[in-house]
Amino acid sequence: MSELHPVIRPRRLRQSQAMRRLTAETRLHPAELILPLFVREGATEPVPIASMPGVSQHSLDSLRRVAAEAAEAGVGGLMLFGVPETRDAVGSGATDPDGILNVATRVLAAEVGDALVVQTDLCLDEFTDHGHCGVLDARGHVDNDATLVRYRDMAVAQAEAGSQLLGLSGMMDGQVAAVRDALDASGHTDVVILAYAAKYASGFYGPFREAVDSQLSGDRRAYQQDPANRREGLREARLDLEEGADILMVKPALSYLDVLSDVAAISDVPVWAYQVSGEYAMVEAAAANGWIDRDRIIEETLIGARRAGADAIMTYWATEVAGWLR
Ligand code: PBG
Repeated sequence: MSELHPVIRPRRLRQSQAMRRLTAETRLHPAELILPLFVREGATEPVPIASMPGVSQHSLDSLRRVAAEAAEAGVGGLMLFGVPETRDAVGSGATDPDGILNVATRVLAAEVGDALVVQTDLCLDEFTDHGHCGVLDARGHVDNDATLVRYRDMAVAQAEAGSQLLGLSGMMDGQVAAVRDALDASGHTDVVILAYAAKYASGFYGPFREAVDSQLSGDRRAYQQDPANRREGLREARLDLEEGADILMVKPALSYLDVLSDVAAISDVPVWAYQVSGEYAMVEAAAANGWIDRDRIIEETLIGARRAGADAIMTYWATEVAGWLR
């Protein structure tokens, strides 16, 4: 072989769209996309979220509409977040059957619960007046074990409202075991637990704080993980598997693909990634300025997460992308 005439030519498989399509290692499918949705108590119309162009806090009516659109597009699931009208120290709205998240869950479970998986965020931050993911002790620190008691009650309330899958996003130690026990003891053995196994204390959640009108001052670094730590992501994932997690999640996606890849390598349950609010906002902002090719970059970020090992992805673009894939 002369140096000018290589025998091995990887370009052969890239020569045409048809060849590339046939040999792609990774694909996107609507069923592997999950749409996060915000529902606002007392709203009569959708309230746009400025830092997430195209995303709104929904009224019950507009929620039903977008849920039906997502189901129609073939999206695999919805993840519901509640924005309550009033908040208190223990997040009472989270366990109230008439709290907005539980009300919305009942509505969606009845309307689209056969077409896709209706899922709920299990965390107190939207419901507490201090904005933390748990209840506080006398020093103002998040009290892990007292929070588990609240999570257990919240899990039962959500299961009773018809949630088929609970997203445990609070990063309390022992939360998966505690919630599994509460679900089983109340007869909800079929309800699936998605453990936000590796959830990092991330600046990429910025726009989400506006999305849920968060009251948080300070940060979550005493319970969410340090972005510097990779091994710790695996430790969290293993613990959640031992505690009975049905699905593991890594969050955020874009800056944590190494962690996603590590977790996917050891997991014998599905592994999901959450493309969070800041990832969405970054792409939309750059696209609005004409600096990037929006659709191409959306697809590339999703493929990147799939390639790194995500079986499914939570993304605010779920319905739109599912539409492209049809
Ligand atoms: C906690 C929760 C958060 C997000 C999802 N669940 C906020 C946080 O941990 O601070 C962020 C999601 C996003 O940014 O899109 N309930």
